[in-house]
Amino acid sequence: MMLHIPEVLSKQDVITLRDTLDAGAWVDGSATAGPLAAEVKCNEQFSTASAQYLGLSQAIVAALERHPLFLSAALPDRILPPMFNRYADGGTYGNHVDNAIQMDRNTGERLRTDVSVTVFLSEPEGYEGGELIVEDTYGSHEVKLPAGDAIVYPSSSLHRVAPVTSGVRVASFLWVQSLVRDAWQRNMLFELDMTLLKLRAQVGNNAEIVALTGHYHNLLRQWGK
Ligand code: NI
Repeated sequence: MMLHIPEVLSKQDVITLRDTLDAGAWVDGSATAGPLAAEVKCNEQFSTASAQYLGLSQAIVAALERHPLFLSAALPDRILPPMFNRYADGGTYGNHVDNAIQMDRNTGERLRTDVSVTVFLSEPEGYEGGELIVEDTYGSHEVKLPAGDAIVYPSSSLHRVAPVTSGVRVASFLWVQSLVRDAWQRNMLFELDMTLLKLRAQVGNNAEIVALTGHYHNLLRQWGK
């Protein structure tokens, strides 16, 4: 499932984050890629050693954790510290799959990557190219969202970032270890949750909806960690 999550950050939040990011230190992105990914990765990453990094990273996590759609779709157990990348001057990231296990740089813990998230921090009209292209069983999906919006997709999918031929594309990216490891089960829970929300808005909290809500939670008990 690919899901567009609108307004994770307000436009003002984006401006504040971008002011700090644009004035900060950026390093060659290939340094943090595995050997295979490094061959196709041509971008910059905000230095995780810089004094501003932790605050910026925490602001992204806090915004996601406030967003009900993100919580329902990703069912986060642990969220790896978000990082930031920048593409300009033909910068690109060719087809790759993200590492299944990533180390949390704050705790040293190894986490499984179930859900990938990109939060766009540049307005789409500010750059040419730069689409995130995700391949799944239904084909290839191109994503280019307004600044502050996010896309959530399974970490198991092949994906790439098209070359940025003019302007600058800044984004935050991160991985989630989900309470529900299986993408199909996670998707079923998400659809059930969204349907229940709509039903509740239509008819209120009747006995059947309470029973179905019970089933949602019992499925989460079955499938969750
Ligand atoms: Ni990737």
